[in-house]
Amino acid sequence: MKLASLKLAHFRNYEAMTIDNLSNVNILLGDNAQGKTNFLEAIYLLALGKSFRTNHDSELIESGAEEALVEGSFTRDTQSEIKLGLKIKKRGKIAYLNQLEQPRMSDFVGAINTVIFSPEDLNIVKGAPSYRRHYLDLELSSISPKYLNELRRYQRTLKQKNQYLKMMREGKSNDSIYLDVLNHDLAEAGGYLAWARSENIAELEQYATDIHYRLTQKKEKLEIVYLSEISCDALNSPEDAASALLASFERLSERELRQGVTIAGIQHDDLSFMVNGTNVASFGSQGQKRSVSISLKLSEIEVIKKIRHEAPILLLDDIFSELDQNRQTFLIKSFEQAVQIFITTTSINDIDTSIIEPPLIIKVDDGRISSRGKNG
Ligand SMILES: Nc1ncnc2c1ncn2[C@@H]1O[C@H](COP(=O)(O)OP(=O)(O)O)[C@@H](O)[C@H]1O
Ligand SMILES: [Mg+2]
Repeated sequence: MKLASLKLAHFRNYEAMTIDNLSNVNILLGDNAQGKTNFLEAIYLLALGKSFRTNHDSELIESGAEEALVEGSFTRDTQSEIKLGLKIKKRGKIAYLNQLEQPRMSDFVGAINTVIFSPEDLNIVKGAPSYRRHYLDLELSSISPKYLNELRRYQRTLKQKNQYLKMMREGKSNDSIYLDVLNHDLAEAGGYLAWARSENIAELEQYATDIHYRLTQKKEKLEIVYLSEISCDALNSPEDAASALLASFERLSERELRQGVTIAGIQHDDLSFMVNGTNVASFGSQGQKRSVSISLKLSEIEVIKKIRHEAPILLLDDIFSELDQNRQTFLIKSFEQAVQIFITTTSINDIDTSIIEPPLIIKVDDGRISSRGKNG
C-alpha cells in the first residue's frame, strides 16, 4: 500500500498543495508549526475518516475558508489504484471513493490503512481508560466496517437509554417495554463489540509479546489484559457476550432506574499492560511505557498485514527525537522495505539515514512545500 500523490485545498494551514511521486521513505522537514503534522493528519483522515487530533472537523478547514478538500491516490501491492477524497464542510463531510460519493462513512473507512506513531501514544499506556477504548475503537473500525457500524449503534442506543432512564426517574415516562427494546439493542451491539475487542486484543498480544521481548533484549515479558464487564467465558461469541450483557442490565435495572443512568456496559472497558507480571501504567518507568507503546503499534502493523495482506502506511510524528539509538534502529529495522513511511522531524540529524533507503525530503514551510528527490 502506497500513497502516490496527495492534494490539499484549504486544509489547516495549506491553502493549496499538491505533491506527486511520493517515495517509500518520505521525510517532512521543517520548523515547528509549519504544517508537518497537518500533512500526516491528512493521510490519516483518508484512512479513518477522522482526525487523530480533533473531534471537531471544522478545525480542519483553513480559517476563513468554507470547506477543505483532501485527495489521495494510492497504489495497492496488486498495482490497482484507488483514489480517496474527503470534502470537509463546517457541518459534516463527504467521502469519495474513486470519485464516487459514499453514502456511509463505513464504506469509506479502512479502504486504506495507516498506523501512526506519535508522542501521544504514551497515553494509551499511562492515560485514562478512555484513551485505551478510543485506541481500540479506532484500530478495530479501520479493519472492520461492521465494528464501526455496531459502535455507532451502541453509542446512539446508549444515549437514548440514558435519556429515557432520566425521563423515567423524573416521572415523565414509564414504558418498560421501550426500555427492554433499548436494552436488547444495546446488548446485541455491545456483545459484538466486546467479542471483537477481546479477539483483537488476543491477536495483538500474540505479536506484542514477541516484539516486546526482542525490543527489550529479552528482558521483558509483555501481557495485554482486557478488562470488561463481561466475564471471560462469555467472550467466546458475540451472542454469549450479548446474553451476559443483557443479564447485567437486568440485574442492575433497579439501580439504573434510581440513578437515571446506564451502569452496566462496555463503555467502561479497559486494558492493562503487564510487564513481567506487574502493571506498567502504575509501576513502569517512562522508558518502559514508551517501549510498550511502540510494541503495541508494531503489533498493530502485523494485525493489519494479516487481515489485509499488505502493509499499512506508517506515519511517524516527531518520535525519533524521543527515542534512543537502540529503539530507533529497532523500529526502522522492523519495518520491511516494502512499507511506505512518512517521518516528521525538525532536524534531519535526528534520523540515522544510513539505516533507511534514500528518502524523499519534503521541506515544509508555512503550509508550503518543496521537495528534494532521492539523489539530492
Ligand atoms: N484550521 C486552520 N487554519 C489555518 N491554520 C491552521 C489551522 N489549523 C492549524 N493551523 C496552523 O497549522 C500550524 C500547525 O501545523 P502542524 O502541522 O501542527 O505543525 P508542525 O510542523 O509543528 O507539525 C500552526 O501554525 C497553526 O496555526
Ligand atoms: Mg507536529
